[in-house]
Amino acid sequence: MKVTIDGQEIEVEAGTTILQAARMIGGDVVPPAMCYYSKLKGSGGKCRCCLVDVTKGSDADPRPMPKLMASCVTGCQDGMEIASKASPRVQEARKSVTEFLLINHPLDCPICDQAGECDLQNLSFEHGKSASRYIEEKRTFEPEDIGPNIQLHMNRCILCQRCVQVADQLTDDRVHGVMDRGDHANISTCISKAITNEFSGNMIDVCPVGALTDKTFRFKSRVWFNKPYNAHRECTTPGCCGKTTVWMFGNEIQRVTGRKDEFHEVEEFICNTCRFDKKELTDWVIEGPREFEKDSVINQNNYTQKLEKVEIATEKNILLGRDQDRKKISMASNPLDINTQNS
Ligand code: SF4
Ligand code: FES
Repeated sequence: MKVTIDGQEIEVEAGTTILQAARMIGGDVVPPAMCYYSKLKGSGGKCRCCLVDVTKGSDADPRPMPKLMASCVTGCQDGMEIASKASPRVQEARKSVTEFLLINHPLDCPICDQAGECDLQNLSFEHGKSASRYIEEKRTFEPEDIGPNIQLHMNRCILCQRCVQVADQLTDDRVHGVMDRGDHANISTCISKAITNEFSGNMIDVCPVGALTDKTFRFKSRVWFNKPYNAHRECTTPGCCGKTTVWMFGNEIQRVTGRKDEFHEVEEFICNTCRFDKKELTDWVIEGPREFEKDSVINQNNYTQKLEKVEIATEKNILLGRDQDRKKISMASNPLDINTQNS
């Protein structure tokens, strides 16, 4: 069947959602998505970020849909016409959803480990307002250790429920979920149980904000100072692909994550042993630098573009002692040199 999104026509299989069709086209027509995750069954339909305007229902019934539709859970019809970024109505709705998501979200990007790879930060950058109209008190929670390697900052959670779906679909003993209802709804463990399942670390990767953070990486570095490399190892955990991205500062592996695609979704899930316990270079076969299709602050200062030497005009003494750090931050001309440096 044929669908048209922002004037671009594409042929899709029956059962394809509008969001999936937009992703096939790519570029500006792709709506933002905070709760849909292609690798998780039943995800989507919660955050309303992905609203689009269906201006023609189908060839059989060309009437427009009266309300904006969540593109991640709305199926394509033959002849359907959709306005996404091109529609002022959609842009207005995305602004409102962003404002709503930020009602209780703290402005703590400067101290949040997710900064630089946060979907909400990107959404706010594009659709956010500079001031909030919310004068009521924000709801606040104390940070909670929900296992040996994961910390929960409920203040930052947008209740997308992706982490609950990871626990449901990847592990056989989910011990956390959405507690309470309405504006009291929060993510927590059942009677302070610890999340210890071998695949629980994937909750960190799917969380679109900084609500779930890796305790082995917390406050070590801003993500844009790390250099990402594809790496793999022979992992013996059943179900783990052993293929990861290792984030390096100099020759030190500071964190390990699943490999994410251009929509910030992991390609394959990995186990906690790979993620939290393998931080030595000798644990990994480094394949080469990881390229990021999605534009973000991480793309700056990396090997996808030729770097110009930057002279910082300031008093010399202010930058004293930073030479070593600066070398670690700037990309090696041949990133694979890290293997030879360590052999
Ligand atoms: S903790 Fe993260 S993944 Fe879980 S519901 Fe909240 S925002 Fe979503
Ligand atoms: S991504 Fe569609 S509702 Fe959240």
